[in-house]
Amino acid sequence: METGRGAEGILSDEMASKREEIVGLLKQAYFAELETVINYVTNSTNPDGVRAQEIKEALEEDVQEELGHAQQFAARIKELYGVVPGSTDFKAEQTLLQPPEHQTDVVHVIKGVIDAETKAIELYQQLVETTEEADPVTQDMVIAILRDEQGHRRLFEGFLREYEAEGLA
Ligand SMILES: [Fe+2]
Ligand SMILES: [Fe+2]
Repeated sequence: METGRGAEGILSDEMASKREEIVGLLKQAYFAELETVINYVTNSTNPDGVRAQEIKEALEEDVQEELGHAQQFAARIKELYGVVPGSTDFKAEQTLLQPPEHQTDVVHVIKGVIDAETKAIELYQQLVETTEEADPVTQDMVIAILRDEQGHRRLFEGFLREYEAEGLA
């Protein structure tokens, strides 16, 4: 169908298949962010103990940031003529972020967070590559989000180092 969007880059008819590829990755990213929201609410609530406090506060702050990421991914899906999926399409993947057996097991939570952030970073790097030249607007957005995730991972790597230094991880 001719829509007269020929000169509009990623929004053009000629770019339809590239757009679909990008939208597919954006949907994956959208769900990953929402799963992170679930698990960060969970893990900012469950842990017990004096040392858990810092971790809980950091995760509580991240919840809002990850929700903001999900909203950005949703908006971009729509801008690229995609349809933002509903919950029945959702498949949970963050096995390492499930609550530990003992709620004082902070190391379990820290490792789960590092794993989730690493997987987000990998997916967003794939998005950066896929959008290269084809869709600089999505690429810009993803690069900014990628930086947030690198910051999250770095923070939790720091937490893990402390436990490793004491032989607790
Ligand atoms: Fe995020
Ligand atoms: Fe994150």
